[in-house]
Amino acid sequence: MSFNTVNINQQMTYFDGHTEVWLFGYGSLIYKADFPYIERRPASIRHWVRRFWQGSHDHRGTPEAPGRVVTLIPQPGAVCVGMAYLITPEALGHLDVREKNGYLRFVTELSLDDGRRSDGLVYIATEENAAFLGAASEREIARHIAQSAGPSGPNRDYLLHLAEALRQMDADDPHVFEIERELAELIKHSNG
Ligand code: SIN
Repeated sequence: MSFNTVNINQQMTYFDGHTEVWLFGYGSLIYKADFPYIERRPASIRHWVRRFWQGSHDHRGTPEAPGRVVTLIPQPGAVCVGMAYLITPEALGHLDVREKNGYLRFVTELSLDDGRRSDGLVYIATEENAAFLGAASEREIARHIAQSAGPSGPNRDYLLHLAEALRQMDADDPHVFEIERELAELIKHSNG
C-alpha cells in the first residue's frame, strides 16, 4: 500500500449524506484540534488498544528517519479512551491530509462520556501500511522517540502531550505511561 492514503480515504462513502460526523481521536487528535468542530468530549471505543507502532515520515520524523506515533491494534474486550469531535464532513479533507501517512478511515461505535453512543470515524494505520513499524519494548520505543524529530517538531513532544492529555481525562494507558517513564529516565541519564 502506498504511503499516501488521501485518495483511498476520499473514496469512503459511509457518511455521505450526513451533515455531522463524530470523529474519534486517540493520538495527536486528542490534544491538537486544528479543524473546526461543533462539540468535543471524551469518549471510548472497544476492542482496540493504542500502540506506538506506526512510523511517522511527515510529522515526527522523516522518510529517512521515521519517528514513532500511535495507531490502534485490535484486542478483543479492550477499551481505548480518546476524544470525540462532532464535525461537518467538510473537515475531512484536512484530516485526510493530516493523517495521510498510512492511516485509513474506519467506522466504529463510540461511547461518549455523557452516555450517548454513535457510529464514528477513526483513522487507523493497519499493519499492512508501508510506514508500520510494529511492536518493540517500551524502552526501545522511548529510545527511538528520544532521537526522532520531523516537520511537526520533536517526537518526544508528541508523547508528552499525549500522556498529559490522557492524564487530564483520567485515562489509564500503561503502554503510553511506561514509555513516558522510560523517556524521563533517558533524559535524566543523558543530563547527568
Ligand atoms: C489520532 O490521533 O486519532 C490518530 C493518530 C494521530 O494523528 O496521532
